[in-house]
Amino acid sequence: MDNIIYTLLLILFLSLKASSSVSSRDRQWGGVRRILSSGDNNNNDNNNNGDLVTNLPGQPPVDFQHHAGYVTVNETNGRTLFYWFYEAMTKPEDKPLVLWLNGGPGCSSVGYGATQEIGPFLVDTDGRGLKFNNFSWNKEANMLFLESPVGVGFSYSNTTSEYAQLGDDFTANDAYTFLHNWFLKFPSYRTRTFYIAGESYAGKYVPELAELIHDRNKDPSLHINLKGILLGNPETSDAEDWSGMVDYAWSHAVISDETYKTIKASCDFNSSDPWSNNDCTQGVDETLKQYNEIDIYSLYTSVCFASTARSNDQSMQMVMSRSSKMMPRIMGGYDPCLDDYAKTFYNRPDVQKALHVSDGYNLKNWSICNENIFKGWAQSKPSVIPIYKKLISAGLRIWVYSGDTDGRVPVLSTRYSLSILGLPITKRWRPWYHEKEVSGWYQEYEGLTFATFRGAGHAVPCFKRSNSLAFFSSFLLGKSPPSTK
Ligand SMILES: *[C@@H]1O[C@H](CO)[C@@H](O)[C@H](O)[C@H]1NC(C)=O
Ligand SMILES: *[C@@H]1O[C@H](CO)[C@@H](O)[C@H](O)[C@H]1NC(C)=O
Ligand SMILES: *[C@@H]1O[C@H](CO)[C@@H](O)[C@H](O)[C@H]1NC(C)=O
Ligand SMILES: *[C@@H]1O[C@H](CO)[C@@H](O)[C@H](O)[C@H]1NC(C)=O
Ligand SMILES: *[C@@H]1O[C@H](CO)[C@@H](O)[C@H](O)[C@H]1NC(C)=O
Repeated sequence: MDNIIYTLLLILFLSLKASSSVSSRDRQWGGVRRILSSGDNNNNDNNNNGDLVTNLPGQPPVDFQHHAGYVTVNETNGRTLFYWFYEAMTKPEDKPLVLWLNGGPGCSSVGYGATQEIGPFLVDTDGRGLKFNNFSWNKEANMLFLESPVGVGFSYSNTTSEYAQLGDDFTANDAYTFLHNWFLKFPSYRTRTFYIAGESYAGKYVPELAELIHDRNKDPSLHINLKGILLGNPETSDAEDWSGMVDYAWSHAVISDETYKTIKASCDFNSSDPWSNNDCTQGVDETLKQYNEIDIYSLYTSVCFASTARSNDQSMQMVMSRSSKMMPRIMGGYDPCLDDYAKTFYNRPDVQKALHVSDGYNLKNWSICNENIFKGWAQSKPSVIPIYKKLISAGLRIWVYSGDTDGRVPVLSTRYSLSILGLPITKRWRPWYHEKEVSGWYQEYEGLTFATFRGAGHAVPCFKRSNSLAFFSSFLLGKSPPSTK
């Protein structure tokens, strides 16, 4: 049975009906037109690359420009990644560039990050269009959202056999190539102060991409001005993540003392195959079963009954694949209700045309997460803690935050993971404030800042928009979050 992939139930409220977001090969492609940068002054280069979005249906009027389209990362095999880029609301030329990634693996940064969390246009719940987000992160930075790897959202490969080879390294390499090719379209950002941010499974993607950039930066011609990374409820170290997940479930009264004792006695999350122990498997199954009754991503909010995503009980559960070599994975994403609206919106012909994804006739098939990619994920680093160490010694700014009502990558998982680093404390645990209230707590270490968001679930900005923007602003300034009212 060693090599056989077998399955385990898992909680998931997303309806990921068989739809794969893989686009068919004969579709019109947005096209990369390389522009040779002549005048590299400010951001005027942006108007000429054909990706400026001018007539997005339902878009509220705004004063900033945004661009969307494809950037080819491998011409031989026909791999191309879709991005959506929002210039900062004011003075984009003075503000840093931030790349945002969502996880899954297999989930879309456009569907989650851009249109549910931190972008300027949130998909409206009436399903008609978009509404302006007054707490969009492009108030503080130029925000770049990437659908990564190929097979996610609008991104695709013409060599479909590659979908079975996707994994962490594949993803990092293509994202790296993407950046360099994107800079060809947007030369004024080539040397801009740069940060990478993301949540959930991007807890792996972000440090992995940062490491690649750091390594390649030894060649001056490839230098990217990476200054730091920002991670939200990030998957970090599989053993610690699992351990924190069951401790959190027990300490938040989701599972019984008996189940907890069974797990503690039988699960060795550090082993290469904790699931070879039946007691452990049963204990974890019981935990997932209880979580299946509520929203694991946000323990104290109600599940979305209105959504068709929840129209039958089966759709909440998903079959998850695992092999003996890898920890089982649970797909990360948030808000089943909004997921449906996003799907409706991004499959509209006029929307696809406006975003330079299709000609408006030969449509791409967009879905928020690609279940096949999630299930077929071929390579995952068990821990990115060694990468943290490397990035810390390289002097990068590393901030990690955690919504403390998330059961999926709970605050305990993050604390266990970070404690392995054994970093000296430079500023002790204390509250941070927003609008005269305790927004969470934080502690600073030599080389890393850790903060919580009180009462926020997995996708923190969905729950705490104003607080998140304030926190993001502190991160960019490299200044502690406000510790007085
Ligand atoms: C999108 O995928 C679904 C499910 O696989 C399929 O039923 C539908 O026809 C596809 N739509 C397009 C436009 O290809
Ligand atoms: C394109 O991708 C294939 C498969 O991953 C790889 O073998 C090849 O080297 C890539 N080509 C370039 C130019 O990177
Ligand atoms: C994929 O194939 C289609 C059809 O041949 C082509 O139009 C498109 O440009 C290809 N995409 C890439 C990224 O090469
Ligand atoms: C948007 O935010 C600004 C502060 O950043 C505030 O002054 C304004 O009232 C807000 N607008 C709305 C509609 O909430
Ligand atoms: C996994 O092993 C490391 C190194 O021995 C240890 O520090 C950590 O506590 C272990 N984690 C779990 C969840 O057992």
